[in-house]
Amino acid sequence: MRPALLVAGVVQARSAALAAIALAVAASACGPSAQTSSVFTTAHRTPAEAAREFFNIRSTPQQPIPFPHKTHIAKKAVCTDCHESVEKGPIAGIPSVKTCMICHDQIATDRPLIKEVASYAAKGVDIPWQRVYGFTHEAHVRFQHAPHVRAKVDCVSCHGDLANQTVAERVVDHNMGFCVNCHRQKGASNDCLTCHY
Ligand code: HEC
Ligand code: HEC
Ligand code: HEC
Ligand code: HEC
Ligand code: HEC
Repeated sequence: MRPALLVAGVVQARSAALAAIALAVAASACGPSAQTSSVFTTAHRTPAEAAREFFNIRSTPQQPIPFPHKTHIAKKAVCTDCHESVEKGPIAGIPSVKTCMICHDQIATDRPLIKEVASYAAKGVDIPWQRVYGFTHEAHVRFQHAPHVRAKVDCVSCHGDLANQTVAERVVDHNMGFCVNCHRQKGASNDCLTCHY
C-alpha cells in the first residue's frame, strides 16, 4: 500500500473545473495527487469464499457503490487519474475516497450516490471495494503492470473496454494460455520464472 500523499491545495480548489485541472496538473507536475485506498479487500473474506476460489468458482463482486467507469471516461477522466501507479510499478491501485472528493467536493453533490461517497469521506473511511481481478497466493503468479504499459499493451487487452462498463467486470480470463500466447506473439519471455515464484 502506498503512503498517504495529497498535494496540499488541490482539495481547496474553488470550482469544479479548477479541481479537474488541478488534478491533471498535480498528476503531471507535483507528484501523485491520487491516494490509494487502504481498504482493498483480501482474496477471501470467508472460508466458503476460499473454498469457492479453490474450485475456481468466482462470484461476481458486489460493489458498495455502482461506480460508473463509463461516465467518468466520457467526461475525459483518464485511467491514471485514479489508478495512478499503473505506469510506475507492479500494481495499478484503487483510488482512496479522498481522490473522489477532489472532484465530488464540487461536482454532482446533490445526487444520492455522491452523498454516499461524501459520507464515507466525512467518516474518514475508505469505500470497501471488492477485488475483480487478481491471483490467489496459491497460484504463485507474479504480475507487473509497468512493463506492459511501457511495451504499449493497452488496458483493453486485459480488462476489456471500461468505457462501456459501470463497475469493472471480469470480462477477460487471466489464465496461463492468455498470458503465454501474447508473450509468444510479442517475443516476451515465456520462462516459467517470468510469471511464477
Ligand atoms: C476528475 C474528476 C472526478 C473524480 C476524481 C471522480 N469523479 Fe465521479 N464524476 C465526475 C463527473 C464529471 C461526473 C458526472 C456528473 C454529471 O453527471 O454531471 C461524475 C459522476 C459520478 C457518479 C454518478 C452520479 C450520478 O448518480 O449521476 C458517481 C456514483 C461517481 N461519480 C462516483 C465517484 C467515485 C466513487 C469516485 C472516486 C473513486 C469519483 N467519482 C471520482 C468526476 C469525477
Ligand atoms: C497484460 C495484461 C494487463 C494489462 C495490459 C493491464 N492490466 Fe490491470 N491487471 C492485470 C492483472 C493480471 C491484474 C491482477 C494482478 C494481481 O492480482 O497481481 C490486474 C489488476 C488491475 C487492477 C486492480 C488493482 C491492482 O493493481 O491489482 C487495476 C485497477 C488495473 N489492473 C488497472 C489497469 C489499467 C488502468 C491498465 C492500463 C493502463 C491495466 N490495468 C493494464 C492485467 C493487466
Ligand atoms: C474516477 C476514477 C476512475 C477512473 C478514471 C478509472 N477507474 Fe477503474 N476503478 C475505479 C474504482 C473506484 C474502482 C473500484 C470499483 C470497481 O471495481 O469498478 C475501479 C476498478 C477498476 C478495475 C478492477 C480492479 C480490480 O478490483 O481488480 C479495473 C481493471 C479498472 N478499474 C480499470 C480502469 C481502466 C482501464 C480505466 C481507464 C480506461 C479506469 N479504470 C478508469 C476508479 C476509476
Ligand atoms: C497482450 C499481450 C500480453 C499479455 C496478454 C500479457 N503480457 Fe506480459 N508482457 C507483454 C509484453 C509485450 C511484455 C514486455 C516485454 C519486454 O519488455 O521485453 C510483457 C512483460 C511481462 C513481464 C515482465 C517480464 C520482464 O522480463 O520483466 C511479466 C512478469 C509479465 N509480462 C507477466 C504477464 C502475466 C502474468 C500475464 C497474464 C496475466 C501477461 N504478462 C499477459 C505482453 C503481454
Ligand atoms: C506469461 C506468464 C506465464 C508463464 C511464462 C508461465 N505461466 Fe504458468 N500460469 C500463469 C498464469 C496467469 C496462471 C493461472 C493462475 C491462476 O489463475 O490460478 C498459471 C498457472 C500455472 C499452473 C497451474 C495450473 C493451471 O494451468 O492453471 C501451473 C502448474 C503452471 N502455471 C506452470 C507453469 C510452468 C511449468 C511454466 C514454464 C514452462 C509456466 N507456468 C509459465 C502464467 C504463466
